[in-house]
Amino acid sequence: DYDKRIEEFKSKLKSFPDFPKKGILFWDIFSAIADGPTCTLLQGILAETVRKKFPGINAVVGLESRGFLFAFSLAAELGVSCLPVRKKGKLPGEVMSYKYDLEYGSDVLEIQKASIRPGLRCLIVDDLIATGGSLSAAIHLLKNNGADIVGCLVVMELESLNGRRNIPSGIAVHSLVKYD
Ligand code: PRP
Ligand code: MG
Repeated sequence: DYDKRIEEFKSKLKSFPDFPKKGILFWDIFSAIADGPTCTLLQGILAETVRKKFPGINAVVGLESRGFLFAFSLAAELGVSCLPVRKKGKLPGEVMSYKYDLEYGSDVLEIQKASIRPGLRCLIVDDLIATGGSLSAAIHLLKNNGADIVGCLVVMELESLNGRRNIPSGIAVHSLVKYD
């Protein structure tokens, strides 16, 4: 069943201590998806999760870069739009921007204006919620430009960082696998 498949997927995830800096335990999604059957397993779990938790979406918004992995496969599986949110200067045409603060300095996320059409009901997808900074910035970018956000789906959540406190209220965030 569903919970068993989540457990099976969780068993494939590998962590690397002290990466990218001393004291950080890095959970590596790429180790898991280097294995073909695990790709199929994860794709199935993601699609089933969306059908159950976020029915009625008509677009998946992927966050550069690891979020793209799951956004396209989900969009293809569900037959909905796949839309990118990228770092500044990577998307052609008219773009909408959102500037946000990092621990040191700031960053800018962009989405193409053409991505935000009337009636859009989107799900934001990423590999991980840590501090919640990336997800929260993407939410503001989309909201400021009139998109209807049905929710957010991430593969992994680092609960000790309490990234959910940075998520605007009323936006549901679902994670498949949680770590302390
Ligand atoms: C990582 C990860 C998430 C984000 C989570 O992306 O893929 O997008 O950080 O952290 P947060 O909740 O504290 O924002 P990163 O910016 O390292 O880039 P990448 O996806 O291109 O590897
Ligand atoms: Mg990322």
